[in-house]
Amino acid sequence: MPQLAIIGGTGFDTLNELKNVRKEMVETPFGQASCEYTIGEIDDIEVIFLPRHAANHSIPPHKINYRANIWGLHDLDTTHIISIASVGGIHKEIAPEKIIIPNQIIDYTYGRKHTFFDENLAKAVHVDFTHPYCAELRNLLIESAKKAGIDVRLSGTYAATQGPRLETAAEIKRLKNDGCDIVGMTGMPEAALAKELDICYATCALCVNWAAGLSEKKITMEDIKQTLDSGLGSVMQIVRNSIKLFRNL
Ligand code: HPA
Repeated sequence: MPQLAIIGGTGFDTLNELKNVRKEMVETPFGQASCEYTIGEIDDIEVIFLPRHAANHSIPPHKINYRANIWGLHDLDTTHIISIASVGGIHKEIAPEKIIIPNQIIDYTYGRKHTFFDENLAKAVHVDFTHPYCAELRNLLIESAKKAGIDVRLSGTYAATQGPRLETAAEIKRLKNDGCDIVGMTGMPEAALAKELDICYATCALCVNWAAGLSEKKITMEDIKQTLDSGLGSVMQIVRNSIKLFRNL
């Protein structure tokens, strides 16, 4: 049976609309997930929620135990993950408050525990990662946005950077030359780990700032927070519609 999970990003640390909520902590061979999993129902559909940075937003992107987070979801029989992420806009049409459903990703992170196929293997494992995001779930997000009358960008390449600092202007120029449209710090290894466990994974990304060097203004947490506050309502509408449509999968 399909089981939906939502991984919340910055500004999306709770899913208040869940009913009949219970909490589960899962022991994993890779240690502790960001926090306990919240399991509840929206429109009679069971949804598992995990805030990536913990409920109090205390875990920075490079310290997240991505393996434990994804393994725990798998243990709870998750088949589909919607990941919510805030990103910087690189493409000129991806301004703050724009929502994008990426279809490609480039990994610029380093030193993260990025695979389940690491040790004690009978033989090396190489998963096909040609299409990092799941078409079925991307379509569901796009359909959900349409239903809500929200104009999302239908594709794009996500650059996953190490953080926690933001990028230099030269780094963003390089990412742009590489074909990246948005930049965030948590897209990898999360997407790859989901793929390794054969979980259908897609991201709904909210642009919260122009990437470094693309605007005259200094990037401040205050401005990011303001954009998050004004953009998260649309993300929530998309998530809500996605849960409704998930029933038909
Ligand atoms: N860079 C990296 N990650 C981000 C940004 C950014 O500009 N904005 C939000 N997450």
